[in-house]
Amino acid sequence: MAVIAVFNQKGGVGKTTTCLNLVAALSIAQRHPIALDMDPQGHLSLASGLKNGTVQSKSMAAFFKDKVPLAQLLHDTPAGWQIIPATLELSKIDALYGSDPQAAKMLKQGLAEELALTGAPIIIDCCPMLGVLTLNALLACDRVLIPVSADFLSQHGVNRLDSALNVLERKLQRKFERRIVVTRFDSRRKLSYDIYDKLKQRYGDLVCKTRIGETVALATSPMHGLDVFAFAPQSPGAADYKLLTMELMESGFV
Ligand SMILES: Nc1ncnc2c1ncn2[C@@H]1O[C@H](COP(=O)(O)OP(=O)(O)O)[C@@H](O)[C@H]1O
Ligand SMILES: [Mg+2]
Repeated sequence: MAVIAVFNQKGGVGKTTTCLNLVAALSIAQRHPIALDMDPQGHLSLASGLKNGTVQSKSMAAFFKDKVPLAQLLHDTPAGWQIIPATLELSKIDALYGSDPQAAKMLKQGLAEELALTGAPIIIDCCPMLGVLTLNALLACDRVLIPVSADFLSQHGVNRLDSALNVLERKLQRKFERRIVVTRFDSRRKLSYDIYDKLKQRYGDLVCKTRIGETVALATSPMHGLDVFAFAPQSPGAADYKLLTMELMESGFV
């Protein structure tokens, strides 16, 4: 079972867009993925096309607050994959467990007990903060996918994130397999190429060959509760995420 946390402490870099379209592409490839929305903003849940009313009690907050088993919180999306959605209620988890060192292990235990047998890849959309929720995601995962948008501040932030993961690895005495994917790549801007080259120089093969271009379809599909394959299957955005998913599958990352 591959458990992949999609994480970057910076917002707006394409974490949710990457989760949505990676999960959709894995579903099309018959891999039966499960998405966990671990961002209280619930953007992935919104983009997955679930009807609002069905979400309230069956969400990630019910797992963390009321210890409802994960398997009972799964929703089927119209596109055919499964998700445990997030609501604003999830923002209370940090305050609830902030000082409890055991709290960071809840998701790891929950996955091992309830979802491990399915063998499905599990993709976690993280929030842009390293609090209790993200620690849960990082402890539960064996891989970290880091979207980096093709701008200077984002590139700068990835170095800090890499150092933080190294510290965590030493503390936990285990490795996170990681990949960096450059998102929001504007092929008309030299800056985009410069940033990609700099990341390549520093992180080598950890940087995915596939770059995700800045495109209208990727920005618009969530508004309609659709992934890019359902919204605009012929678009460059669909082609990019298909290529990325193939690259990640071929290298055994997912
Ligand atoms: N490749 C892309 N092309 C165009 N818009 C994008 C692309 N990736 C993300 N966006 C848009 O940028 C915003 C932030 O992306 P999002 O995936 O929500 O980032 P994060 O989850 O890291 O905060 C959203 O409005 C999203 O639709
Ligand atoms: Mg997000």
